[in-house]
Amino acid sequence: MIFIKFIVLGSTGMLGQELKRYLSNQGNDVVGVARKNADYNFDVTDDEKLLNCFEVEKPDVIINTIAIVNLKECETDKGKAYMVNSRPAGIISDYCLENDIYFIQISTDHYYYGDSDKKHLETDEIYLLNEYARTKYLAEPLTLNNPNSLVIRTNIVGFRCGENDTFVEWALNSLMSQEEINVFEDYYTSSIDVHSFSRILYDLIEDKPSGIYNIASSDVSSKKDFIFSLAESFNLSHSNCNPSNINNDGLIRATSLGLNTDKVENAVGYKLPNLKEVTDSLKKSYEFLNE
Ligand SMILES: NC(=O)c1ccc[n+]([C@@H]2O[C@H](COP(=O)([O-])OP(=O)(O)OC[C@H]3O[C@@H](n4cnc5c(N)ncnc54)[C@H](OP(=O)(O)O)[C@@H]3O)[C@@H](O)[C@H]2O)c1
Repeated sequence: MIFIKFIVLGSTGMLGQELKRYLSNQGNDVVGVARKNADYNFDVTDDEKLLNCFEVEKPDVIINTIAIVNLKECETDKGKAYMVNSRPAGIISDYCLENDIYFIQISTDHYYYGDSDKKHLETDEIYLLNEYARTKYLAEPLTLNNPNSLVIRTNIVGFRCGENDTFVEWALNSLMSQEEINVFEDYYTSSIDVHSFSRILYDLIEDKPSGIYNIASSDVSSKKDFIFSLAESFNLSHSNCNPSNINNDGLIRATSLGLNTDKVENAVGYKLPNLKEVTDSLKKSYEFLNE
C-alpha cells in the first residue's frame, strides 16, 4: 500500500473508530475528526476549520464517514441534514481535486424498497423515500465531480461503545438479558461488520478505483435472521425474539436494502463475508473490545 496519511472524518463513530484502528494497525498515519474526543474537534459545517485541518495535515486520503444517521433528526431539521450529510462532500471533493488527494465518501444503502431480499446493483434504480436518503444521495454526485474519488454504498453493523446503543449493541443486550423484543421479518439488509468493511475497503483502494462500489455481506437477510445468526455466534438463546413486521412509526423507511457485491468481489479477488461470517466477526470484535 502506497498510502501514508489518512484523515478519517467521523473517527469517533461506529465505523470511524474501527477504520482508524484498522488503518493504524496497517502502519498508516491516521488523523481523526469529530466534534469531540478526536484529534481535531470541530463541526464539519465549519468550512474554514475543515480546510485548515487538511492544509495542516496534508493527507494522501480523506475518508468521510460523518452523517446524521437518525432518520427522525433528518426530517426535523432538513437544513442541518443537508449541511452535514451533503454539502461537505462537495467542499472536500473540490479540495481533493485541487490538491491531488484521494477522496472516499461513505454513502448508504437506504435507496430501495418493495423487492424484499433482492441484491441491488450499483446501477439499479434508487428511490429517495426520506430526507436521510435525499441528503446522502446528493453527496454522491458532489463527490464524483472529482474523478479521483470513490463512493461506497453499504450497511454497517458494529459497536460504538458510546451514549446510544448501535443496532448490534441493542440486539446483544436483549439476547443476553432475554428481554422480549420484536424482530422484523420484512426488513432486509446485507449488513457487514465494520471490521470486515475496513479490511475490504483497504484492499479495494490499493488501486485507487473511482465511481460507486457496494461493500456489504454477500448474503441478504431479514433483521430476524440477522439476530438469530448473532445469537448463534454468541451461543445465546433467541427465544426472547418475537418475529414481527416493521412498524414504520410515522417514518417512511426503505426496507429492501440488499446490495449486490459482484463488482467489489471482482476488484478485490475474493468473496465477501456471508451472514454467519459477519456475526462471527462481530463476536471476535466483541471479545477484542472487552479484553
Ligand atoms: N449505521 C448504519 O446503519 C449505516 C448504514 C449505512 C450507511 N451508513 C453510513 O456510514 C457512515 C458512518 O455511520 P456510523 O453509524 O458510523 O455513524 P455514527 O456512529 O453516528 O458516527 C458519526 C461520526 O460523525 C461525527 N459527527 C456527526 N456529526 C458531526 C458534525 N456535524 N461535525 C463533525 N463530526 C460529526 C460523530 O462524532 P460527534 O457526534 O462527536 O461529532 C461520529 O464520529 C455514515 O455516513 C452513514 O450514513 C451507516
